[in-house]
Amino acid sequence: MRNFSATGVACANIALIKYWGNRDQELNLPSNGSISMNLAGLETRTTVSFDPDLASDQLSINVQPATPSALARVRVFLDRVRALAGITHFASVVSANNFPTGAGIASSASAFAALSLAATHAARLELAESDLSRLARLGSGSACRSIPGGFVEWRAGEDDQDSFAYSIAPPDHWDLVDCIAVLSENPKQTSSLEGHALADSSPLQAARVADAPRRLEVCRRALQERDFMRLSEIVELDSNLMHAVMLTSTPRLIYWLPATLTILQEVGDWRRDGLPVCYTVDAGPNVHVLCAAADVIQIADRLLHIPGVSHVLKASVGGPTHLVLELY
Ligand code: PMV
Repeated sequence: MRNFSATGVACANIALIKYWGNRDQELNLPSNGSISMNLAGLETRTTVSFDPDLASDQLSINVQPATPSALARVRVFLDRVRALAGITHFASVVSANNFPTGAGIASSASAFAALSLAATHAARLELAESDLSRLARLGSGSACRSIPGGFVEWRAGEDDQDSFAYSIAPPDHWDLVDCIAVLSENPKQTSSLEGHALADSSPLQAARVADAPRRLEVCRRALQERDFMRLSEIVELDSNLMHAVMLTSTPRLIYWLPATLTILQEVGDWRRDGLPVCYTVDAGPNVHVLCAAADVIQIADRLLHIPGVSHVLKASVGGPTHLVLELY
């Protein structure tokens, strides 16, 4: 095999029904199913080149050499791809995000989705979307949801074979926008990888997981019917349930900053005043504020007036992970 290269681009995604906790930590088999929306324009672009002249795998992220722990995680992932393709060459991986890394905007999701597509194509593998989603899941659970486009469901499944994500509605199904109020771009202190392992230490996790099928059903139906009020209630409840689990884990996890709570209260007030808007928060302080495309300017302006908000990123519903041609 000669030097084979491929470049993949993947969107981040925001979970409307969250994944928190694993039944199998090695295989990232989640404790519950989840639903998300891909975020157009918040992307990771990754080029993978398997090269017979390399003596080890190499990784750069945002034009910097990666940390040893990031490199180790990618090496394990590349080993899976090499085993599937029956190749032994090391690879150079060059990855860049166009949004802040590690601040609750799920950079690991877009990173492992882009890596999955680029690495498998560079290794001359052609995987079905479900198999690519399973592979991405092994890198980072939520990455499996960035493989298909639009609104996506990851079914928990029973085992490695049937735990993958698929589209439940295309990007143009509903013109929702995620306005992300950025409070901090600092990497979080506890990664989601470590956080998942703590979920079962919360006495609330069992109840959160037991009620997940109901929340998934309500969310699915709200999306199908484009029912914003029903979506708002279930999305905010689900986010609050996940943070209740985080707060009551041992050790406890507090991802919020004071301004996070201010935004949650403001968004509730705006909705009570008749504006269709709701919030959800991942494992970080930044608040994802969902609204209709027609209200984006107004919502972004209101968010920018809240002390502590440094800027607002806006993302409409994104498409699937795809290959791009690199011109050398
Ligand atoms: O895929 P991970 O290990 O980064 O976990 C993602 C966890 C949350 O973003 C908090 C929730 C979710 O479903 O995306």
